[in-house]
Formats: sequence, structure tokens, C-alpha cells
Amino acid sequence: MATRSLADLDVFDNGAPWDLFAELRANDPVNWSDETDGGSGFWSVMRYHDIVKVLRDPETFTSSHFTNLEELEPDQEEARRSLLDSDGTRHRALRRLLQNDFTPNNVAKYETFLRGLTATTLDNAFAKGEFDFLHDVAADYPIRVLARLLEIPDTDIENIIRWGNAMIGSSDPSLTDLLPTDPESEKYRLVPFRSPAALEVFAYGDELKRQRLGRNGTDIISTMINSVPMDGKPLTDQEYHTNFLLLIVAGHETTRQTIAHTMNNLMNNPEVIAYLQENPQDIPWAVEEFLRYASPIYHFRRTATKDVEFGGKEIKAGQKVVTWFASGNRDPEVFADPEKMIPTRMPNEHMTFGRGGPHMCLGNALARIELIIMFEDVIRRIDKMERTGPMDFVHSNFIHGIKSMPVKVTLR
Ligand code: HEM
Repeated sequence: MATRSLADLDVFDNGAPWDLFAELRANDPVNWSDETDGGSGFWSVMRYHDIVKVLRDPETFTSSHFTNLEELEPDQEEARRSLLDSDGTRHRALRRLLQNDFTPNNVAKYETFLRGLTATTLDNAFAKGEFDFLHDVAADYPIRVLARLLEIPDTDIENIIRWGNAMIGSSDPSLTDLLPTDPESEKYRLVPFRSPAALEVFAYGDELKRQRLGRNGTDIISTMINSVPMDGKPLTDQEYHTNFLLLIVAGHETTRQTIAHTMNNLMNNPEVIAYLQENPQDIPWAVEEFLRYASPIYHFRRTATKDVEFGGKEIKAGQKVVTWFASGNRDPEVFADPEKMIPTRMPNEHMTFGRGGPHMCLGNALARIELIIMFEDVIRRIDKMERTGPMDFVHSNFIHGIKSMPVKVTLR
């Protein structure tokens, strides 16, 4: 039985505890963790096929009591609820409204913009020779893409980056001045992440709404405010706020971390770089392995709606059930040699975006094209990249996050 707990954030301080995931997958695949921070504890589901079962059964395992480990009062749930934490008809209606903007065909329209942004980002970083890959390449790239999709003016992008970083860093003492455990944060209990930055995002969203209401814009914000979801109910102000904020944060840290982890994984596996330099046509497929291997989100959470036996354990109604995507991505029942980075792995049904079920990542086609274009350019240009100092990880069991990654590049 494992002595280290998945509830203990220190266990994640050196990156993913792959050995602990493997041990639990093999010996205790549905296991219980007590929480010491006031939480009531949670069940962890470690195996790929069990995770899929949970994701595909929202009637038993609901998202509507939120999807991270924080436990909310009913008034907090109502105030903070977005697409991510909804189920049933309203979830389907909201998702249908937004999904057209995120189809592979639609995101392909941004290819030229993405190639330009990638080239400029890499030109600036590579000109330095030595730089921090997280800071200089990965950090701002995804949010600049989101800003483009939302047709946010260039002059406002720095604010969006600042707010995004403040919200995402809200649980790491080195990234925020106001931790959610600080009594001072009580006045922000009704806003996402308990973060004052969320209020600035709401105010900014209101300003964009004022400018775009009743006009014939085709961007996502115009869709949210000028179209009616298929259940016939327009978005309330609360829904507009939380879903606008979701669009800003959902693709930010996730894509940033996939880029950073992938560069690190490539540096550890130079034969993969060599293979893809010889076979650049395989990069779009290799991106699936980049996503599996990076696993930038450790988990999402569900809540049991009734007493249920699962994996030989008695789960009680109201208990938290955590699906560990990062563990499922290394399950040897599904992936041969799961600890190896194999760019030609096929099939590669990873669960980095979830796997099946109603909440499968809405932005997956966008994230994929961002990664393809970024790594086509990186792999084409570099002869060698090496780390010049230690990496620093985010203190979290939710985000598999790198905070800094100093590197030195030699170009071809
Ligand atoms: C590599 C990058 C990304 C990863 C790893 C990722 C991961 C995920 C995962 C695992 C979920 C499912 C949550 C659950 O089951 O409760 C999700 C949902 C979602 N993602 Fe992503 N995501 C990424 C990029 C993006 C991007 C670029 C966007 C664009 C805005 C985005 C928007 C969303 C939205 C709106 C949802 C909620 C969908 C729903 O509840 O129906 N994501 N993402």
C-alpha cells in the first residue's frame, strides 16, 4: 500500500510522481485519500478504462458540484458555475453554442496567424542563445492565440495575460499575494479561483459586451451575447461572465505546460528530434504522443450522485471522485511501453483532453494546431537544446506545471 498521499502537494514538487501512479494502478486502482486542508477526502481512479467509465456516466458522477478539489457552498456553486461545471440540457445547449468556433475547420483559419506568432516568438528567444523556455516561448503564446480568437485588441492583451496568470497561480504561494486559504480571500468567495483578478475579467467582459451587443460580429463573444442557445434561454449575466472567463483560462496554462513539457521531453529524447527532422510529415501525429507524455493536467473531479460500488469500493453519495488522466495516460493495459516517448505510437487514444463523455475538451483542435505549428518550427530550426539549470515545478496536484526551464540552444 502506498505511503505517499495524492492529497499531499509536496509529492508533486519534483514533477509527476509516475512511480506512485504506477504503484496505485497496480495495487489499489480505486483508492481513498484523506485531506488535511479541511477537505473531506476523495476517491482516486487510476486506471484508464475505469476513468473512461466515470467520464461517460455523468448521471452517477456529476460535474455540477465542481471539477477541482475545492468544496463549494451552494451559493458559491451557483455564482461560479460555467460550462465545465454544468450537466444535462443546459450544458449541451451552452456547448453547442460555442463549439462551432472550435471545430478543426474553423481553427485551421488561424494557421497563417499561428505561423507568424510562432516565428516571432522563436526568433526573439533564439536570438538570446540562452533563455528561459517557459518564460520566453511557452508562457504567453496560448493566450495571444485566444485573444486573437476573441478579437481582443492588441492594446488589451497585456492585461489579459496578467489576469490569466494571477488566476492560474492563485494556489501557489510563489505566484500570488492572496492564497485561497487566506481569510482575506473570503470577500472573493463567490468568484472563480477566489481571485480579485476574476472581477477585472468580468468588468472587461462587460465592456466587450457593451461594444458588441446587437451588432453582427462573428467572434465567440458576439455569439455568446447575440445568439440564443438551443434550449431557448439566452445567457444570463452570470453565465456570460463565467464562460468568458473559462475561455480565457481553459486554454492558457494547459497549452503553455504542454509546450514546456514537450520541449523538456524532447531534450531528454534527442532521438525523437532526429526522427522528426528526418520525417517532418509525422509531426502532426507525434503531437498525440507529446500530449500523452506531457499530461499537463493531472486530474479532474466528479461527485457521486448516489451510493455506488466501483472497482470493488463502496463510494457514497456526495463523495468526491478524482479521475487521474496522467495515470491513465501511462496505463500499460492500453499503452505498450508507456514510459517511452514513441512519436509513431499508433493507436494513441490518450486522455489528455478527457476521453469520451460530455466534457471532452472543447478546445482540443485549437490546442493541437498550436502544438503542431510550434513544434514544426522548433524541430526544423534546432540542432540541439540543453537545460542550463534546474527546473522548478508548480506546487499543485492539479496542474503538472513547470515554472522555469533555463535552456541553451544551438541552431542548425
Ligand atoms: C493542451 C491543452 C489543453 C488541455 C490539456 C485541456 C484539457 C481539458 C480537459 C481534460 C477537459 C475536460 C474537463 C472535465 O472532464 O471536466 C477540458 C475541457 C475544456 N477545455 Fe480544454 N484543454 C486544453 C486546451 C484548451 C483550449 C485551447 C481551449 C480553448 C478555449 C479549451 C477549452 C476548454 C473548455 C471550454 C472546456 C470545457 C468543456 C465542457 O465542459 O464541456 N481547452 N480541457
